[in-house]
Amino acid sequence: MSRRRIWTAAAALLMLTAAPAWPQEFTGEELAHRLGCRACHTWQGAGGTHGPALDGVGQRRSRPELAQQLTSTPSRRMPSFAFLRPQDWQALLTFLEGL
Ligand code: HEC
Repeated sequence: MSRRRIWTAAAALLMLTAAPAWPQEFTGEELAHRLGCRACHTWQGAGGTHGPALDGVGQRRSRPELAQQLTSTPSRRMPSFAFLRPQDWQALLTFLEGL
């Protein structure tokens, strides 16, 4: 495990255990902001370039493919987001499908 992945996992755990900050429903867009997707991805003209731009990703990828990308990344250049709650999953996937 690289140092960055360990820190990502630690940050994810911290977000989950800081319960009052994570109680309610979020829209997919809010989740994408909170989870820091824009550190590596651009959409709608803002974001990083470590990963591919996500505009139109809903046309390129099916929902199962998007879910797969978020949980297991063979290249290890993207952290896993498998820790998300089921309802957050659905919201995030619906947001990605609409990009
Ligand atoms: C540390 C950088 C990083 C972060 C943070 C990150 N990604 Fe990625 N992502 C990548 C890279 C790099 C790829 C290219 C494929 C690969 O290497 O796994 C990728 C690929 C993708 C793809 C597939 C794109 C395509 O065109 O097929 C999707 C969808 C995606 N990421 C969504 C997200 C979402 C949603 C988040 C936030 C929850 C996120 N990523 C956070 C680096 C990141």
